[in-house]
Amino acid sequence: MAARLGISRAAVWKQIRSLRKRGYKIESSTKKGYRLAGNYDILDADMIRSCLKTQWLGKDLRCFSEVTSTNEVARTIARECRSDAINRIANCGARIVKGTANCGAVDETANDGTVILAEIQTQGRGRLSRSWASPPGGIWMSLILRPQISLDRAYRINMAISVAICKALADLYGLAAGIKWPNDLLIEEKKICGILMEVSAEVDRLEYVVVGIGINANVDVSGYPAEWRSTSLGQELGRGVSRTELIQKILLEIEKSYRHMDSKEIWEEWRSRSVTLGRQVRISSVSGDLLGRAVDLAEDGALMIQSRDGLHRVLAGDCIHLRALEAA
Ligand code: BTN
Repeated sequence: MAARLGISRAAVWKQIRSLRKRGYKIESSTKKGYRLAGNYDILDADMIRSCLKTQWLGKDLRCFSEVTSTNEVARTIARECRSDAINRIANCGARIVKGTANCGAVDETANDGTVILAEIQTQGRGRLSRSWASPPGGIWMSLILRPQISLDRAYRINMAISVAICKALADLYGLAAGIKWPNDLLIEEKKICGILMEVSAEVDRLEYVVVGIGINANVDVSGYPAEWRSTSLGQELGRGVSRTELIQKILLEIEKSYRHMDSKEIWEEWRSRSVTLGRQVRISSVSGDLLGRAVDLAEDGALMIQSRDGLHRVLAGDCIHLRALEAA
C-alpha cells in the first residue's frame, strides 16, 4: 500500500488509525496488510462530498458521531452566523456530546446550504414538541437555508423538500412514499421520514430556516411502539442501504425542487403525492379537534376539511388518518 501510494508505512498506519477512529472496521495482519471489514455505511463528510452533484447545497457538510439534535446544532450555527461558530460548537460538550474534529472554516456568508449530520441524536426532536428516536443507522440531518422569500411563503420549502425526498426514494429504490399532511412521508401507512422545519424571522423577513430531516434508513424499528407505525428502508427493501448515496441523492433533489419551490408544479406534485386527500381525518390543534374528510390541499399548504358543520381551512395541527370504521 505504501509503495503504491508513494508514502511511508508510518503514513499508511496514521491514515488507518484515523479511519478506525471514524468508525471503519479495518483488520490488520502482519505481512498481508490491512483489510476493510464489515460496516461500510459510515457517515463521512469527505465521502458524501466526494460524489455530491449539488451546486451549493451541502458544500459545507459536517458529520458528527453524536449530538443532542442536528436541528439545535444547525440553529446555533445559523444564529451565530460566524465563521468560527462550528468549531466552537464542536468543542462544546453541552450541545455536542461527541463531535468529529475535522471542522474547517465556515463560509461567512452565513452558512446558506450548510448541512449537519449525526450518527446518533441524544435529544432528537419531532414536531409538536415530541421526541424523535435517533439510533445509529438513520439519517438525522439538518439543513440551514436562507431563502429570499417572505415569512408567509415558508410553507413552500416544506412542499419542495417533501417532494424531493419522495423522488429520491422512488429513483433509488422504486419506493412510492406518500405525503401525509403536512409533511410525514409514509410507505403504506407507515412512517419512514419526518420533517421538522424551524423558522427564524423578523416581522416579515425570513432570517433563516433550519430543516430537520429524519429518515429511518438502516434502523431496526421492530422495537418501536406499535402506535408510532414506523418502518425503515431496511425493512421495506429487505436489505441495508448506503446512507451516503441516499444523502447525496436527497440533497441533489432538494436543490432542484427548492429552486422551483414557488412554481405551481411543486404544489401539484406535493398534492398528487398526498395520502391524506380523500381520507377521514382527525386534526388536533390549539383550537381543539376537528373530524372530517380531507377534500383538498390549497396552494398555501392548507388542508381543506369537510366536516358536518361545513368546510374548514386548516393550516397547522396534528393529523390522524382514521380508519373507515373509526370514522363512522
Ligand atoms: C416529525 O415527524 O415529528 C419530525 C421529525 C424530525 C426529525 C429530524 S432528525 C434530524 C433533525 N433533528 C432533530 O432533532 N429533529 C430533526
